[in-house]
Amino acid sequence: MKIAEEQFTLQDGRTVTIRSAEERDAEAMLAYVRKTSEETHYLIRYPEEISFTLEQEHQIIGDILRSEDSAWLTVFDGDRAVGNCSISRCSGQLKVRHRCNLAIALEQAYCGLGLGTKLLSKARDTAKELGFEQLELGVYADNERAIAAYKKAGFREYGRLPRAFRLKDGTYIDEINMVLFL
Ligand SMILES: CC(C)(COP(=O)(O)OP(=O)(O)OC[C@H]1O[C@@H](n2cnc3c(N)ncnc32)[C@H](O)[C@@H]1OP(=O)(O)O)[C@@H](O)C(=O)NCCC(=O)NCCS
Repeated sequence: MKIAEEQFTLQDGRTVTIRSAEERDAEAMLAYVRKTSEETHYLIRYPEEISFTLEQEHQIIGDILRSEDSAWLTVFDGDRAVGNCSISRCSGQLKVRHRCNLAIALEQAYCGLGLGTKLLSKARDTAKELGFEQLELGVYADNERAIAAYKKAGFREYGRLPRAFRLKDGTYIDEINMVLFL
């Protein structure tokens, strides 16, 4: 799904653009995914596990734009992608078609400035528009800022998977599962 473009002013006065990533943004999207994966351990991949080619990224972006059950709300500072919030159908079977997954990550220089809250609210509206009934996500139990942002957006914890993640140094971290009924 293609979303309408919107300007957003961060709490420090900078202005960014929220819009759908397009095929011409493939390189910017790859750079963003690498950067956010390096900056914290809160995403699913280590940077070296990001192996998408430019062509694959191009294809993925096109698929999302044409899709009727997913959307990317991407944040641009000029030509640079600095954040993304994705929503996508959990699965296509009739019994679970009402459920939608959410994932979000901003570059650190854009965190703590109200942007996450803005994207979560926009994602909620977009998911409703697509006909979903609930938004679901998983978050590292030590990610206090993300958990605070999700709770502020109306998500509530419904479960916890012990030792869901194992970091390279052997540390285990639980996953907290959250849901927001639309
Ligand atoms: C998680 C994330 C999307 C939140 O977005 P954000 O723009 O940083 O959050 P916001 O500025 O909108 O803040 C939301 C709330 O979080 C809370 N918060 C902000 N910084 C916090 C911190 N360091 N610790 C605890 N709570 C914090 C505040 O209560 C804030 O609400 P308020 O504005 O009413 O005070 C963003 O920080 C991020 O992308 N982080 C890196 C990647 C990541 O962790 N992704 C999530 C993977 S599940």
